[in-house]
Amino acid sequence: MKKILMVCLGNICRSPMAEGILKHKLKERNINWYVDSAGTAGYHIGEKPDRRAIEILKKHQIDISNLKGRQLSLSDFKTFDSIYVMDQSNYANTLSLANNEEETKKVEMIMNLVSPNQFISVPDPYFGGHECFEKVFKMLNQVCDAIINKHLSL
Ligand code: 4NP
Repeated sequence: MKKILMVCLGNICRSPMAEGILKHKLKERNINWYVDSAGTAGYHIGEKPDRRAIEILKKHQIDISNLKGRQLSLSDFKTFDSIYVMDQSNYANTLSLANNEEETKKVEMIMNLVSPNQFISVPDPYFGGHECFEKVFKMLNQVCDAIINKHLSL
């Protein structure tokens, strides 16, 4: 079974949205992969996703209200096949925890799957308005299809 981890800073906005969207698409296609999310920081451990993230996904019939924030750990580099990070800062912080070449190679900027080698960030919506969450949803919805296609062809 493929194992995919989504990573952002707080694990209450972008990465739980990515986790929910990817799980939803996999379920629709009857694909059984393990998907989880984590934050590089420990600010929101044990918390539900941000209510704006919950609301926007609810509009698309995706329920993430039961997810709980957790922090990225060293064991994640062993458990998961791929670790998708949202922005350049997550990328640097996540790479700094990788122990070897094999673990380093698991880490990828998520938008590189639709814009190869461009290192485009999914912007942090936490201090933004509803339109920031809409933008994040659109980006993640597009890239989750690319993630499925990539891993199906591996
Ligand atoms: P996320 O958003 O990384 O997409 O979950 C954030 C959530 C909380 C904070 C920053 C970003 N914070 O500073 O508490």
